[in-house]
Amino acid sequence: MAQSDWKPDTYLDLIRAEVPRYDELQDEAVKAIPFPPERVLELGMGTGETTRRLVGAYPDAWVIGLDSSPDMVFRAREMYDGVQLARIEDPLPDGPWDLVIGVLSIHHLTTEQKQSLFRRVREHSRSLVIADVVRADVEITPIEPDYDFPETATDLASWSGGTVAWTQDDLAVVSAVY
Ligand SMILES: C[S@@+](CC[C@H](N)C(=O)[O-])C[C@H]1O[C@@H](n2cnc3c(N)ncnc32)[C@H](O)[C@@H]1O
Repeated sequence: MAQSDWKPDTYLDLIRAEVPRYDELQDEAVKAIPFPPERVLELGMGTGETTRRLVGAYPDAWVIGLDSSPDMVFRAREMYDGVQLARIEDPLPDGPWDLVIGVLSIHHLTTEQKQSLFRRVREHSRSLVIADVVRADVEITPIEPDYDFPETATDLASWSGGTVAWTQDDLAVVSAVY
């Protein structure tokens, strides 16, 4: 995915071109939330597309989002208070959380970093939803070898202790309850 081109103003057009099922993926991520959450941590919040849908479905949810891009954080803060400039690899903001959710962000972590993240999430959250590009027979999303590290949906489910809630082409949603 063309990270160097991502700017908040053009992000949605670009991501929809690279991930034609982007809106479907967002909808399926929210559908996979296993119970109404109150305290939510979003990883790699970007411009806040997931938060917007999540709060629409669960108006009582209180979302803290983090992102490593200052531009994205500035944009998301125009709409939401709880946005932090932070990396997913760093210690997570204090939980406990009802839900940790990440859409199209976890694939930027290496395998070891993903497994470490899942261990930390298990300790601090009652559930997890990951919606992301995965390794599959069909490859639609452009992959940058130095920046994108997709796994199979089965591996994501196995490492997180969850199940594959939805999959289509090279996209999948994994949901876990702890
Ligand atoms: C493809 S965008 C997805 C944004 C949003 N979740 C969405 O669904 O539209 C990936 C986002 O993850 C952020 N990101 C990438 N690596 C990250 C990391 N290690 N820690 C935190 N955020 C990261 C990027 O800055 C970007 O905003």
